[in-house]
Amino acid sequence: MIPVTRPFMPPKKIFDAYTEGIWDRCLLTNDGPLVKMYETEMRERFYLENFTFVSNGTLALQIAIKVLGVQGKVITTPFSYVATTSSIIWSGCDPVFCDINPESFNIDPEHIEEKITDDTTAILVTHVFGNPVDIEKIERIAKTYNLKVIYDAAHCIGVEIAGKSVLNFGDISCLSLHATKMLHSAEGGALVAKDAETTRAIELARNFGHDGPENFGGLGINAKNSEIHAAMGLSVLPFFDEILEKRRALYMQYKDSLSNSGVKFQSLGSNLKYNFSYMPVVFSSKSIRDAVHEKLKEHDIYSRIYFSPSLNLLDYVEPISMPHSENLADCILCLPLYYDLSHKEVELICSLIKHNLS
Ligand SMILES: Cc1ncc(COP(=O)(O)O)c(C=O)c1O
Repeated sequence: MIPVTRPFMPPKKIFDAYTEGIWDRCLLTNDGPLVKMYETEMRERFYLENFTFVSNGTLALQIAIKVLGVQGKVITTPFSYVATTSSIIWSGCDPVFCDINPESFNIDPEHIEEKITDDTTAILVTHVFGNPVDIEKIERIAKTYNLKVIYDAAHCIGVEIAGKSVLNFGDISCLSLHATKMLHSAEGGALVAKDAETTRAIELARNFGHDGPENFGGLGINAKNSEIHAAMGLSVLPFFDEILEKRRALYMQYKDSLSNSGVKFQSLGSNLKYNFSYMPVVFSSKSIRDAVHEKLKEHDIYSRIYFSPSLNLLDYVEPISMPHSENLADCILCLPLYYDLSHKEVELICSLIKHNLS
């Protein structure tokens, strides 16, 4: 069986060495030494302004919306994972969808301004599959209309533009460290904020608002992460370069092998250090995509129709048409890509796809 993804499992003895300390200290959570160590190591390794570890990427988005005081309408992308839209609605705000550019898969910044009204307070957009949005343009619009910017950077660990981590942009960038992400802590997420004041507000918000045992510095929730998750994160982190190299080689093999077969690839931005977080391919129609998806399944190979549905079609949002996003959701397939995947397996997947397309 070839799954679409598999978590990177660090050598067990590394994880065991961290957990031994947990047993010695008998301290499982509440800002323990491993959480602190993980935050420091992630910040230093990826040259981040700051890094606040939380229990998952979805809560990172919800905390970002809260601490920035975002209310009313939020301009967002319809092509993302459901957590992007659901977090906006969960927080009592209204998503205002702006269609994507079908080449980059990201929100098309040329159409953002026409969506802005007096009730708009923020732009919350996803760097889809780790491909950065047009940050310069988005931040120019945000400045002009005095809007907050939150990036759903769930897929972006290690991604740099012009030598700078993409997580360092926006008022807040939100990362996922879920087991399926290229770098993970089993479950986990993080917020990278633009200043110390916002970081402090995030630290309070992730721990019920506690500012000392009996004092509260505002509204909070429980989004703390545990020592066990930090131990997993610390055990995986040293393998980042090795994981990246492996994924790069597999991604390139897919691209070379499928380049003249009629499938399209995501156009990546320029001046980019990419992390090869996903292997999305786009077919010329939904029926061809579905046929390939089924054919792979017959061979015990599991690709994923991802992202789908286009988020403007969720039954809890105001109906609106987003043709580019809907078309992409109909034609996209994410192919298997993970550390343990072999070149032989990629060869088999590509030959099955090509056979189906010929
Ligand atoms: C674009 C995007 N945003 C948010 C999330 C939510 O992250 P988490 O699973 O850590 O809650 C995901 C998870 O896959 C995602 O892909």
